[in-house]
Amino acid sequence: MTEFATLTYNGKSYQLPVLTGTEGEKAIDISTLKTRSGLITMDNGLSSTGVCQSAITFMDGEKGILRYRGIPVEQLAEYSSFKETAYLLINGRLPSRKELTRFSVLLNDLSLVHEDLREFYRGFPRHSHPMGILSSMVNALRSFYPELETTDEGINLTMARLLSKIRTLAAMSYKISRGHRVVYPRPDLTYCANFLNMMFDSPVRPYQIDDELVSALRVFWILHADHEQNCSTTAVRVVGSGRVNLYAAISAGIAALWGPLHGGANQAVIEMLEKIVKDGGNIQKVIDRAKDRKDPFRLFGFGHRVYKTYDPRGKIIKKMADRLLEKQRVPDPLLDIAKELEIAARKDDYFIEHHLYPNVDFYSGLVLRAIGIPTNMFTVMFAIGRLPGWIAQWKESIDDPGWKITRPRQVYTGPTCRDYIPIDQRT
Ligand code: SDX
Repeated sequence: MTEFATLTYNGKSYQLPVLTGTEGEKAIDISTLKTRSGLITMDNGLSSTGVCQSAITFMDGEKGILRYRGIPVEQLAEYSSFKETAYLLINGRLPSRKELTRFSVLLNDLSLVHEDLREFYRGFPRHSHPMGILSSMVNALRSFYPELETTDEGINLTMARLLSKIRTLAAMSYKISRGHRVVYPRPDLTYCANFLNMMFDSPVRPYQIDDELVSALRVFWILHADHEQNCSTTAVRVVGSGRVNLYAAISAGIAALWGPLHGGANQAVIEMLEKIVKDGGNIQKVIDRAKDRKDPFRLFGFGHRVYKTYDPRGKIIKKMADRLLEKQRVPDPLLDIAKELEIAARKDDYFIEHHLYPNVDFYSGLVLRAIGIPTNMFTVMFAIGRLPGWIAQWKESIDDPGWKITRPRQVYTGPTCRDYIPIDQRT
């Protein structure tokens, strides 16, 4: 039975249907409000606005719950592969053994990139940020693989092609930025091991696959694979709503992820921790700056629009950072500083009152450092992990029979009507 909310304005009442989600979330459907009342709503940052109904990921920000297609992310991190989790997110269920094998063979067959694409990298200045390169290169893929996405086969091929090639594109940007020879993907390596081999193998020092590091990368990418309607996923949906090709929509998602308030936070956390160490380890100074309204500085890796408790991904990554650095017996001053910073912040009334806890980015950079990933590639690692989620969300939007181009409204606050003034009459 449909529930309704009543909006009363200017002596008139409007009955608005209330939607109920699988987990009991409620939403007032205001899609007819403008035509019926002339009114629109306003919601800076869309923190109280749902933009779609989705069956992909469920988050409970109060309880710190995260599930992909109903499966808790903790179980996927424990038992699944990144490839299998990508299949789950995109197809809505876990694959049979035969389906997973077929998916693996397809990703392997699609892992090379057109040789002419290598010329594109030579056009970027050596110091170019890898996120800018990745966003450009993903967009450029459309010129080389113009499969029409009007058929299921074309769409499935394009999704698999992106999932496979994003690793190769990312590793190529690293190798070429260092003037090293590009390493090709290998058919005998898993998705994660292949990426590490393409990044670090060299003719003079063959890369030794370390199962612990491969597993750490597997967990890292599973934990980053989707997160409902975050900034970059919303960018993918909005750009995709104009019925542009998948490569362009994903390129927009990569660009949105780059910012230090979003995926760029993992790089910003490490740079923040390094600065604390350089400045003599004054934790309180950083805490005080983060609390100072007049100071735009934010404590990177802390806070979240949805989680008002510990980010469930952050808990797993923190344990992984401990384990990896313990195994490597390399004391990392940044891990000690990060732990001190977490303790100090979580005891501080400001952080308690604002429900600010470590998010996925607070410890993730320490795991990536332990794996050997350079700091300027941390957000690229986030993008590779998030790709299955972006693809799943894009697919869900194009499969939605009610799919419409996204075109929000505004409240105009500029000058009222006035005439043009010829230049010789202007003061
Ligand atoms: C990701 O959305 C997702 O799901 C994102 C993500 C994903 O998987 O896709 O989880 C990945 O982006 C994680 C977040 C990474 N970003 C950071 O770590 C950057 C630091 N965090 C903040 O900038 C902030 O917490 C955000 C951007 C994450 C969330 O910001 P909101 O929800 O817009 O909250 P806000 O900026 O309005 O802050 C509310 C209050 C403010 O104080 P008041 O003015 O109300 O008194 O909390 C304060 C803020 O000043 N605050 C912080 C803070 N985060 C919020 N104060 C100091 N340090 C912080 N980190």
